[in-house]
This record gives sequence, structure tokens and C-alpha cells, in this order.
Amino acid sequence: MIFKTWTTGLLALCSSTLTSASAIPYVDDQAVLKYADHAASPHDVDADTFTRPSWFTSTLMARRLLALSPSGVISTTFPSHIPASSRTPAEVAGFPIGLREYIADCDGILPENLSHGDNGDPTILALRVATTFRNIGTGSNLSLEIDWWDHLSDAGAVYPGLPPSPAALPRITLFGYLDTLPELSVAAAASLEKCFLQSHPDAKYWLPATPGSPHASYWARLVVTHVYWIGGFGDVQQIGWMNVTEWKGIRQHGSLPGVGDGRGWEDVRLPGEKKGHGAL
Ligand SMILES: *[C@@H]1O[C@H](CO)[C@@H](O)[C@H](O)[C@H]1NC(C)=O
Ligand SMILES: *[C@@H]1O[C@H](CO)[C@@H](O)[C@H](O)[C@H]1NC(C)=O
Ligand SMILES: *[C@@H]1O[C@H](CO)[C@@H](O)[C@H](O)[C@H]1NC(C)=O
Repeated sequence: MIFKTWTTGLLALCSSTLTSASAIPYVDDQAVLKYADHAASPHDVDADTFTRPSWFTSTLMARRLLALSPSGVISTTFPSHIPASSRTPAEVAGFPIGLREYIADCDGILPENLSHGDNGDPTILALRVATTFRNIGTGSNLSLEIDWWDHLSDAGAVYPGLPPSPAALPRITLFGYLDTLPELSVAAAASLEKCFLQSHPDAKYWLPATPGSPHASYWARLVVTHVYWIGGFGDVQQIGWMNVTEWKGIRQHGSLPGVGDGRGWEDVRLPGEKKGHGAL
């Protein structure tokens, strides 16, 4: 019986991956909250209470995932030709490489004439020497993957009949391009550093313009153009491409006019988060 539920979920995951996201009907908006409640007491998990959150609720969860995540995997590709003088083997030319990098959701603290209005474009501290940023420098496209898999032990059983399962936890891939931030005023740099160092205290040693820093660095921002979401198993979570207008319109508290239903990412919780736990 348990095994059957498991298998059904996995099949649903596979079929949702293959079908168009737009074919998935709108379901229960409050599901994510129920989901979090039940995750706290695995023995109460009951298949009937699991209904798929709406796409807007999923997008709130996705923006919350970005806000709470200190790092993500940036995928780039090596150039199609690698010079013989390079220490990179010529054979990896054109191959993708995913590397975990520090990120922070700090756009909202940038000065008004620079900020994108806290629209979910992640801030990145780029090291000139790092493979990720060298590949981007030679024209590579990039995407950034963020997941909630580190929270498996808090999330507990998130699917009926299944032991704790990373595959049931959310992950997201952001596509776009890297925008180097212009030189910041002293005050703007100080605010950005304060925001970034909250989740990366060690990065103070390689902030831009840090005397004696081992690595030259610069501030950049991923300007998001597309968002791919896997909420978990496809019969209880959404899987597919998000509405980028909604992604960009969501704020911590509420959303821009014309987007959503008055909620912001502060109004949802990810699996295993304590109720009432403040975000930042
Ligand atoms: C933004 O405004 C600040 C201060 O008013 C100014 O120094 C800076 O050059 C402006 N930046 C841009 C990108 O316009
Ligand atoms: C990057 O993506 C764009 C489409 O957005 C494409 O035109 C371009 O060829 C890609 N660059 C590389 C190096 O693949
Ligand atoms: C995306 O969301 C916006 C705001 O809710 C809406 O106006 C627009 O029609 C949506 N786009 C698609 C393709 O559904």
C-alpha cells in the first residue's frame, strides 16, 4: 500500500515533467500552509489533504526560496575553443560546468536609480579568477539553480508513505544574464556589503576593493528572464515554467499592482519551516 502511493507519486512526477505546465489546473491556494503543518507531524500525513498549490502560491514559495538561500549552483559552458596554453583541458571545450556560488537577495537595498525594485534578481559577488565568471566573460550563457535540499531533516516526511525525500523538496532554476553593477557610492557599497555579509560573513575578505584581498571581485546581478520550478512530486506540487511577471512583481510583503492576491513571500513557508518564523 505504502509502496503503491510512492510509485504513484513518482509516476506523477515523471508525467508532469513531460506535460505542459499550463495543462495543470488551478488548485488550493492554502495547500503550502497545510503542507508545512503536516510536515511537522509525519504520522498525520494523509494523502487526501495534499492538493497542489496554485502557480501564484508556488511563485511566492520560489521567491521565498531565493530570499532564504545563501548559495546556488551556476551553470556555464566552457568556450568552444580552449587555447593550448590554458590549464583547462582542451577536451572540455563546450561542456557545461555547474559550480556553487554565493548569492543574496539584496536588490532591494540598492540605491533607487540602480535597484530593480527588489524584483528577484539575485546579487552575486563575482571573482575574476573563478571558472564561472571566466566562462561568462568569454560569452557563456548561465543559469542559477537553488534548492531546499539542505532542509531535508527539518522537512520530515513530505509525501504520504515515503521516508524523507529530497526529491519532494522544491528547487528552481533562474535563467538570464549577468549585469555588472556600476561603481557604487560609499554609502551604497556599505549597504550592499551589510546585506551580503549577513549570509556570508567570510566574504568580507574578498569584497570589491578590499585591501589585501586574495581575489579581485566585483558586484553583479543576475537579471532573470525565465524561471523553471520543480515544487516536488508533480501530483502535489507544480512543475514547469513560472510567470516571470509574477516572479518580478512579488515583494516580501505584498506584490506590485496587478500581480497576485495581496500576499508576498513572507506569507508562505517552505517545507519544514517553523510556523511564525521570521524570514530574515
Ligand atoms: C545614482 O545616483 C547617485 C547619487 O545621486 C549617483 O552618484 C550615481 O552616479 C547614479 N547612478 C546611476 C547608475 O545613475
Ligand atoms: C546565449 O543565449 C542566446 C539566446 O538568449 C543565444 O543567442 C546565444 O547563442 C547563446 N550563447 C552561447 C555562447 O551559447
Ligand atoms: C502573467 O501574470 C500577469 C500578472 O498576473 C498576467 O497579467 C499575465 O497574463 C500572465 N502571463 C501569462 C502568460 O499567463
